[in-house]
Order: sequence, then C-alpha cells, then structure tokens
Amino acid sequence: MKACCGISVMELKPGQILAADVVAGNQVLLNEGAVLTEDKIKQLQEWKDVERVSVFVGENGDSVKLPEVSREMLEQYNETVTSVRHAFESARAFKTVPVDDLISVARTMMGSLISHYAVLQAMKLQERVGEYTFQHSVNVGILAGIIGKWLKYDEASLGQVVLSGVLHDIGKAQIPPEILNKPGKLTRDEFLVMKKHTVYGYDMLKGADSISEEIRLAVLQHHERLDGSGYPFSLRQDKINKLSKIISVADTYDAMTSNRVYQAKRTPFAAVEVLEQEMFIRMDANVCLTLLHHLKESLVGNHVVLCDGRSAKIIHIGRQGADDLIVQTNDGEFINIGLRQHGLIEACEG
Ligand SMILES: [Fe+2]
Repeated sequence: MKACCGISVMELKPGQILAADVVAGNQVLLNEGAVLTEDKIKQLQEWKDVERVSVFVGENGDSVKLPEVSREMLEQYNETVTSVRHAFESARAFKTVPVDDLISVARTMMGSLISHYAVLQAMKLQERVGEYTFQHSVNVGILAGIIGKWLKYDEASLGQVVLSGVLHDIGKAQIPPEILNKPGKLTRDEFLVMKKHTVYGYDMLKGADSISEEIRLAVLQHHERLDGSGYPFSLRQDKINKLSKIISVADTYDAMTSNRVYQAKRTPFAAVEVLEQEMFIRMDANVCLTLLHHLKESLVGNHVVLCDGRSAKIIHIGRQGADDLIVQTNDGEFINIGLRQHGLIEACEG
C-alpha cells in the first residue's frame, strides 16, 4: 500500500483510508487512518479550506484494504483501548487499579495482537484524538510482547511482558489532566510532577496480589537508563529490572512514532536512528538490536515517496538506518538515499 498525495475531495469514495491528517487552520478535521464514509466525504467537500487530501491506494491505484489485518483484529484493538481507558478512569476516580480487568485485557492481546509487527503498524493508523495515553499503553504492550517473542520468551514470561506494557504508565492516572494533556512543552516544575507517574504506578499496584514484584518494578523503572540518566532513582545497568529494559525500548519507539499533543510523529527511520544512538549507552543493546533487526526487515519492500514526487521501493537498509538506504524507483533507477540528504519525504506501508 502506498500514499497517493493530493486527491481532490470531489473524487473521494467511501472506504478509502486517509494517508495523512486533514488539517484546516489549526484544526485536525480527520486523522490519518480514518476510513472515509459518505458523511465524512460530504463534510470534507463542504469545508471550503480543504480541496485535496491524501489517501492510501494499492499498486493498481484502487485498492483500499488495510495491510494484513482483519476487521476483527481492528475491533479487538479498539475494544482493548476502550478497556484501558476505563481502567485509567477508574484508577483516577478510586486510586486503585482494576487489576483483574487489565490482566484479562493482556490475556486477549496474547493471541493475534502480538502475532506480527505489521499488526502494530496497522493499529497505529487508528490514532484517535485525545486517546494517546490509552493507545500508547496498548501499543507498548503489543510491541513489548512482539519483542519478547523475538527474544524467544516462553508463554508465561510473555504474559508478564505484555501486562507490564499495558500497566507501565498507569501512574499517569494520578497526574493532573492539565499537565498530562498539556498541548506544549512542560515547564520544569510540571515535568517534576509528570515524573512521579512511575512511583504512583508502583504504589497503586502494591496491594495487588495478582501482580508480580517484577511487573511492579517494570512500572517503577521504565524511565531508568543504563548510564544513570533516567528517573526516578538514576539506577544504572544491572540495578534496572530486566522487564523494564524491554518496556523502555517499546515505550521510546512507540512515543516517537505516534502523534502526541505536543509533537508530530516521526517516521520509523528516525526512530531507528534514535535507537541506534541510544543502545549501549542508555538502553539495553540486546533488546535494541533485536527490534532494529526486525524493523529493518519489515521496512524492506515498503514504498516511499521521494522529494521529487517519484515513488520508490526500499531494496536495502544498511547499518546506518535512514542514512544508508537503497531504493528503486518505479522507472527502475537505483538510488542510495544516504547520498542525498532529505531525499525521502514519506514512508508508507508496503
Ligand atoms: Fe512513562
């Protein structure tokens, strides 16, 4: 699947999927990943500032299918996000976490949702405004589970990994909404408050017998970094719990590749670059290398749009990530993107 930029709103058809947010002024009218209905198309046609939008099309120009993911899986993902939202709301209101509900959420995620990286890519097209914290918790659970599978964890350990991912930010339920959802950079004092979500999460789970101490520590330590630059306790190396090391990589990757209130998402290539810089120094090398290896594998074959408007297919990704990329254009030319700064403007599902 590739993005087709600039289709006239008068030519849209129900079932097409937006490949980019539709923005008018400062307002996002529809999110990337939204499936167009007759009503939505009518709204777009009536909005006088919007003339063209970007939709996903197949090789033949008319396919609108989501990549490798069934409607049932999308529904399961959306239900999972809703369950996590309810858990956060209940944790905010009653200061206790509905642990049994989240254990059953993690159990249902163990099947199809953590089966393949393409699933997460497709789920990320479902970004919903105002739901970042809940979707992020589910995404981190999925990605951590996938990494656990790549690391050949057994079923029981995978269950712990997924649940740690779902729970890792539960302490944010005690962060004031005006700080949690602030549409801009946090002040120093606000950031100090935000950092407390790690300790709040650990404390909220203290009384839950069905949650292991390992999971509680993953929640407490997921912002610790190997060089001691993390929080809340500036722990180093082996003092950091093993589960946290997986959650911190999944957390960082998902945060970078998601839209947040204060930051637009970055491409997987930019995320690959950051992980390459962080591993060994701040994040566990084995976990990072495992994710990088599979990410690069999954990006080969994807379609990208070059600055000159030509579409191309990724043939090879070298050790330098986005700086070491060979693509083949539709007219057969091979280009080493690394030799041309900013040669790549858009990466789409393949
Ligand atoms: Fe966090």
